[in-house]
Amino acid sequence: MMEKPDIKHLFEPRSIAVIGASENPGKIGHVLVQNIVEMGYTGRIYPVNPKGGEILGHKIITDLTAIDDEIDVAIIAVPARAIVPAVRMCAAAGVKHLSVITSGFGEIGNLEEERWVATFARENGMRVLGPNIFGHYSARVSLNATFGPKDIRKGNVAIITQSGALGIAMIGKTAVQNIGLSAIISVGNKSDIDEADLLEYLVEQDDTKIILMYIEGIQKGERLVEVLIEATKVKPVVVIKSGRSKRGAIAAASHTGSLAGSDKIFDAIMRQCGVLRAESVDEALEWCNFLSHAPAPQGENTVIITNGGGVGVLATDACEKYDVKLFDDSQHLKNQFELVTHGFGSTKNPIDITGEASADDYVHALNVAREDELINGVLALYCETALMTAGELTRVIEDSYTNYQQAGKPVVFALFGGEKTELVINNLTQKNIPVYRDVYNATSCMGTLYSFSKQKEGGDKVLDDSTVDIAAIDKIVDDALADGREFLLANEGELLLKAAGLTGPKNGIARSITSAVDIAEEIGYPVVMKVVSRDILHKSDVGGVLLDLDNKAEILDAYQTIMHNCKSHKPNAVIDGVEIVEQVKPGTEVIIGAMRDKVFGPIMMFGLGGIYVEVMKDVSFRALPLSRSEVRTMIKEIRSYPLLLGVRGEARKDIEQIVETIFKLGTIIRNCARITDIEINPLMVYDEGQGVKTVDVRVLLSTAEKGENNA
Ligand code: ACO
Repeated sequence: MMEKPDIKHLFEPRSIAVIGASENPGKIGHVLVQNIVEMGYTGRIYPVNPKGGEILGHKIITDLTAIDDEIDVAIIAVPARAIVPAVRMCAAAGVKHLSVITSGFGEIGNLEEERWVATFARENGMRVLGPNIFGHYSARVSLNATFGPKDIRKGNVAIITQSGALGIAMIGKTAVQNIGLSAIISVGNKSDIDEADLLEYLVEQDDTKIILMYIEGIQKGERLVEVLIEATKVKPVVVIKSGRSKRGAIAAASHTGSLAGSDKIFDAIMRQCGVLRAESVDEALEWCNFLSHAPAPQGENTVIITNGGGVGVLATDACEKYDVKLFDDSQHLKNQFELVTHGFGSTKNPIDITGEASADDYVHALNVAREDELINGVLALYCETALMTAGELTRVIEDSYTNYQQAGKPVVFALFGGEKTELVINNLTQKNIPVYRDVYNATSCMGTLYSFSKQKEGGDKVLDDSTVDIAAIDKIVDDALADGREFLLANEGELLLKAAGLTGPKNGIARSITSAVDIAEEIGYPVVMKVVSRDILHKSDVGGVLLDLDNKAEILDAYQTIMHNCKSHKPNAVIDGVEIVEQVKPGTEVIIGAMRDKVFGPIMMFGLGGIYVEVMKDVSFRALPLSRSEVRTMIKEIRSYPLLLGVRGEARKDIEQIVETIFKLGTIIRNCARITDIEINPLMVYDEGQGVKTVDVRVLLSTAEKGENNA
C-alpha cells in the first residue's frame, strides 16, 4: 500500500494564493479570485501578479515568497510557458498544494513539463491537482476555487471529474436539480493527485454522503481498485465512465492522453468493487440525489402501490431489470391491503388500489406498507385522475414521504399525467422528494439503494493459495527465459501445473517407435500423439497431431505418419520426439485465464469453452486478489452458468474445483511477476465430486517487471 497522501488542507485551506490573478475581469485569473471572494471563503487570500495592483479589495502581491504566512493552496493560472517560475516561486514560499488550472501539458503531448512539475513539487513537499483543470470546490470552507459558475449549492454529494467542461456543466445541473455538493474536484491530467487519493479523503469526510466520479481513463488501476473496495463499504460511489463504445474509447484516449481499458473489464471490476455504474449523467445525478437522502433499507422486500394496473406491470418489469425483489407473501398482502382495493383491485404485488382510489385510500395504503415490518421499501405509482387535485396529491406525497423518512423506510414515487402532474413533480422535486416521471427512473434508484446495502455486507477473506509452489514455478520461468523464450514449452507448462497442484493429462515423450508403444500402454488407451519440436509451432497444421489412438497397431502407424508429415512439411525441423498424452474423457469445457491488464494489473477471466467464449463472448472478469466467494460470484456471472448446474437431467458439475483452479492461477499471476498470461483451455469439468482436468495450458512470459507493465 502506498503512503497515504495528506490532502486535507487542499479542502480545508487556511490560506490561498492565486498565481496569475488579473485585474482584467475577462481573464481566468480574475474569475478565480472573484469566485473565492464572493462565495464567502473566510481564509486568507493572496492574489499574485508581478504587475501588482488590486483586485476586489485585495492587494495583488508581486512575489509570494515575500509573504510571511503558510500557504495551503496555490492556484496557478499562468500560461504553460510561465509555469516553471510560478511553481518554483510556490516551492520557495513553502506552499503545500498546487491546483494547476493551466492547459498545454500531457493532453497535447507535453509530458515532460507535466512530469517536471509533479516531480519538482513532490521533492519540495507539494501535492499537485491537475494540470488542465477548472479547479475545485469545498463546501466545508465555502471555497469556490473554480472558474465555473459562482453559486454552488451546498450539500452532501462529492463529484470527482476528469472532464472539465462536463464538470462545470454538472455544477449548473446540480444547482437546477436542487442537488447539493460537498465538493467538486476537477482532476484533469492527474499528474499527481488522482481519484484514489481523493476517495481516501472524501470517504472519511463527514459532509460527504455519496461520491460521484466521471472517469475517462485510469492510470493506476490496482490502487484505485484497492481504495474503491474499502470506500464502497462506507459510502456509495457512483461512476460514469465514457468510452463504452469502441469509438468512444478511442476518443477518450486521445482526449486525456490516458488509456481507457477494455470496457468489459472495467465494468466487471467496478461491479467487483461495489461501484454503482450509471449509464448517463442524468441517471448518475438521480441516483446521487436519491441515495443522499434515502434511509438504509432493512431488507429487500419491496411493494408496488399503484392506482393503475398498466404502470404496475411496467414497474414489475423495471424491478426485474434493476434487481428489486418484490415481496410475494400473497396471504400476508391480502390481509394487509384488502380494505383499499375496492373489491376489484389486486392485493397481489403490485397492490392495485384502482383508478377509484381517493387521497385517503392512497394515504391508507402507504401507511399500511410503512407500518408493516415485513415490507422494506415501497414504489408508489400514481396515474392522474380527477379524484385528486394537484394540491391534494402534493400534500399526500409530502406527508407520506416525511413519515417514511421518520420511519427509516425508503419510498420513491413515479407520477403519470399532464399539466397537473407536472406541477406536482416540479413542486416536490424542489423539496428533494424522490418523484419521477417514469417507473424505470424510480425503480433504478431503488435498485441502486439495495445494491449499495448488499455491498456493505462484505465478503470473506482474500488469501493466496499457500499450496502453490511459487519457488518451483519461478525456476521453470528462469530456465525458459535463460533459453531465450518468452513462453513455456508443453512439458514446462505441465510442470507449472504440477507445482500448483493441478492435474493435467498423463503423458510421456517417446524418442523411438518402441518407447511410444510402452508409454501408451502405461497411460492406457485412448491416447493422443503430438510431435515435439521447437521448430514446429502449429503442430496440427503440419499433421503433427493424431487423436483417438486405441491400440498398439494404431500407435505404430501414427508414429510413422507423424514423422512423415513433419519431414515433408518442414524438412529442416529438428524433431525431439513424439509426446503421448492421455486422451482426456469428455466433460464440460471451460476456459480460465490469468493475465496482466495494462490498467488494472493482474486479472482473471472465466468462461465456458468453445462457442460460448468464441461466439458469445460469454466471459467474466475480476481484478485480483479475490476471495473464494468472489470467485464463485465470478463463475455465476456468465450467462451460460446454468449449464454448470446441470440441465436436462444432467448432474451438477464440479464447480468447487473450478473455484480452486481459478484461485491457483490467481496466486501464480500475483506472485510470479514475469508471467504475463496463463490460459487453461480447455479445463475439462466433470460431475460434482469427480474433479477437473487441464487439457492444455499456455503460458507467456516477459522479462519486464510487474511495475513496468502497469505504467
Ligand atoms: N506569476 C504571476 N502572474 C503571472 C506570471 C507569474 N509567474 N506570469 C504571468 N502572470 C500573469 C500575467 O501577467 C497575466 O496577468 P495580467 O492580466 O495582469 O496581464 C496573468 O498572469 C495571466 O497570464 P496571461 O498570459 O494573460 O494568460 P491568460 O490569462 O490568457 O491564460 C491560462 C492563462 C488561463 C492559465 C491559460 O494559459 C490556460 O491554460 N487556459 C486553459 C485553462 C483550461 O481550460 N483548463 C482546463 C479546464 S477544464 C475545461 O475544459 C473547462
